[in-house]
Amino acid sequence: MGVDMHSHILPGIDDGSKDIKSSVAFIRGLMELGIDKFICTPHIFTEVYPNSRETIFPALESLRTELKTQKIDVQVEAAAEYMLDLDFLELLKADSLLPLRNRHVLVEMSYQVETRNVDQFIFDLNIKGYQPVLAHPERYIYYHGNFEQYRKMKDQGCIFQVNMLSLAGYYGKGVKQMALQLLKEKMIDVIGTDLHHIKHLEYITKFVRSGAAGKLLAEYPFRNNELFR
Ligand SMILES: [Fe+2]
Repeated sequence: MGVDMHSHILPGIDDGSKDIKSSVAFIRGLMELGIDKFICTPHIFTEVYPNSRETIFPALESLRTELKTQKIDVQVEAAAEYMLDLDFLELLKADSLLPLRNRHVLVEMSYQVETRNVDQFIFDLNIKGYQPVLAHPERYIYYHGNFEQYRKMKDQGCIFQVNMLSLAGYYGKGVKQMALQLLKEKMIDVIGTDLHHIKHLEYITKFVRSGAAGKLLAEYPFRNNELFR
């Protein structure tokens, strides 16, 4: 995997890491599993996590400073995970998105309700020259009975990012099965931890150390390093 391009390990700005100490612990834990670059992606979801450059970059700086103090040599960058909503469209219009790299933007949707006009969001992103990276497609259970929707989104130019936790079974059987099906159909492009807290780290560590992750994923052509190194 090398590069983890989806995590909530910047301190104190969303539902992820609560403080610098936890952030450093998460980074240490993931480095032990072979990750050597982090693109941290705090939520930008105005109603709940109204993050922006003004909250994200100071959090990044404080984390980098602490890593340096502790002599932990690792690349840490910041982008965001955007909820597809009306506020997102405003940011898109103003051309002020924080991409993962180049023009790749990490986006998520509600878990409960199907996003209306998802085609329009993808179209608007494409028109502006962005490529949407859809976070954890396997977790939108309202698509589980509609595999064609996934094909459609891929055809429209979405990159799909699977959560390692989904494959580990953390979110339950249905999500795991969909993650496996998307892998089988070679529709997944990149993998991320989406790590928020210590339980996630423990679950991922167990998944890797048990050999289950390697067995399942070693041969899969993930594009993390190609796209985000
Ligand atoms: Fe996330």
